[in-house]
Amino acid sequence: MEQNNAYDKLPYSNNILPQTHPDVLSSFASLQGLTPPDIQKSRILELGCGNGLNLICHAADLPESEFIGIDLAENHIEKAKATAKRFAVGNVNFHQKDLMKLSESDFGKFDYIIAHGLISWVPQAVRDKTFSIFSKLLSENGIGYLSYNTYPVWHYVQMLRNIGRLHARDITDSTEAAESAMTFLDLLTECVPPDTIYKSILKQETDFMKQLPKTSAVHDMFGEINEAFYFVDFVSELKKNGLKFAAEVENLSTRFNSLPPRAFEFIDAIDDVIWREQYLDFFVGRAFRQTLVCHEEIETGYLVEPSAFENFFLASSLRPVSKEPELQTQKPEKFLGAQGRVIESAHPLTKTALYELGNRWGNTVHYSKLLNDSREALTKFGFPAEDWTKEFEAARSLLLTVHMQTDLLEVHTYQKEVDTSVGKKPAVKKLARMAVEEADFVLLEYNRGMRIEDPLLRKLLELADGSRTMDEIESELVSFVKSSDEIEDKERVIGNLSIKAEIDRFAYLGLFSG
Ligand SMILES: C[S@@+](CC[C@H](N)C(=O)[O-])C[C@H]1O[C@@H](n2cnc3c(N)ncnc32)[C@H](O)[C@@H]1O
Repeated sequence: MEQNNAYDKLPYSNNILPQTHPDVLSSFASLQGLTPPDIQKSRILELGCGNGLNLICHAADLPESEFIGIDLAENHIEKAKATAKRFAVGNVNFHQKDLMKLSESDFGKFDYIIAHGLISWVPQAVRDKTFSIFSKLLSENGIGYLSYNTYPVWHYVQMLRNIGRLHARDITDSTEAAESAMTFLDLLTECVPPDTIYKSILKQETDFMKQLPKTSAVHDMFGEINEAFYFVDFVSELKKNGLKFAAEVENLSTRFNSLPPRAFEFIDAIDDVIWREQYLDFFVGRAFRQTLVCHEEIETGYLVEPSAFENFFLASSLRPVSKEPELQTQKPEKFLGAQGRVIESAHPLTKTALYELGNRWGNTVHYSKLLNDSREALTKFGFPAEDWTKEFEAARSLLLTVHMQTDLLEVHTYQKEVDTSVGKKPAVKKLARMAVEEADFVLLEYNRGMRIEDPLLRKLLELADGSRTMDEIESELVSFVKSSDEIEDKERVIGNLSIKAEIDRFAYLGLFSG
């Protein structure tokens, strides 16, 4: 029997998911020493692709690769086809199809398969079939991406979900039911006894649910199916299908860094990588995973491979704090990155490489070119290196640490020319305009992007459509602030408007079409 699809009634939210871009998948796999297929000549499949926005953005970025998206919901696929046509993205095709009926004879094999937000929200049979598709349709060195909810922390979410569903038991319309559930959960959070664990869980999880797009709350939180897995159980499913864990799409971010040394001592003492990952979930309280998988036969060392770093194109916005940094000496220099984060290095070749990267921010530079250019610059400054091999090794290890632990140094597996110019009448590129309109998302070159939280930024991007000069944009923005109900403290906001700086910031990252 065909699965009854709630998404036909209420389409899912418009998502752009940079973490599913083949560049990201191949970078994480490469760092673990795997040799994933060349993303610029690949075949990529997305299962449960929703309304296709995500795949359209990836396809537009990699015009030589072929993308196919399938989804059960007819309205999702109609929308996906219309959007791809509207933005003339020709290397992506969408098919309304139940994945239960998908086989190799339909579209062949794929180098990358993406299933975001699927396996936790479908019946067991569809979940089983998804694993089998990954097994049968992934090419030899192919990389699969699966995201899913994880225990133990998902138990908290399920507690609220169960309360909400019981409360809304008699409401048949899913949107109304979710609204009623949320209203009740709010009331409950306020009323339960203070200073209890119960109250703090309710508060934390209702806050989390409130920031979700409305349709995600309806489907993801209060829909029929909402499963979570312990990582070890997820891996057992992989094994049954001749697959295995390859890597997790997550850097050693601040939440790992905040663990005390005792936690790392405990985790490091575990030999089995799968159990090590499981214990990491226990320690950091991870509720969601984005896991890369590959065929069982592929060798995986589960150790970051420093030499793999040498194949990447690098980019960084880090800038020296000092106006005249001393690069050629061992003097520690601070470098400032996004959100005011600072790193420090005393190593001359590393400092010079970071300095060079900062100068080229927006674009990427190949690792070996960067290091060779940096060596040349240091030699000119009179740096007395005795052993360049040692200096190169030290720089590689330090740069890798910056990448792994701070997110301030990007790695990419492809290179493209980023046009950083901006005309007299700034015009946001066509595809980026779609992202603003459809997904409240700023989509920049190299798959950089962010959700738009600020109404002022959204308005600025809307106004930058090629028909207005900067002055005209500024005066319309001032009128917008004055008439907006969303913006408080209007005088301060108007006083702080810096249109040129904001446009320059995004121009640097290739948002405008010159
Ligand atoms: C939670 S949504 C996720 C959409 C998108 N991947 C995202 O993360 O934004 C799940 C999607 O899977 C699709 N889906 C569910 N069961 C399916 C099936 N049997 N075959 C194909 N697609 C299915 C739904 O129609 C829906 O678009």
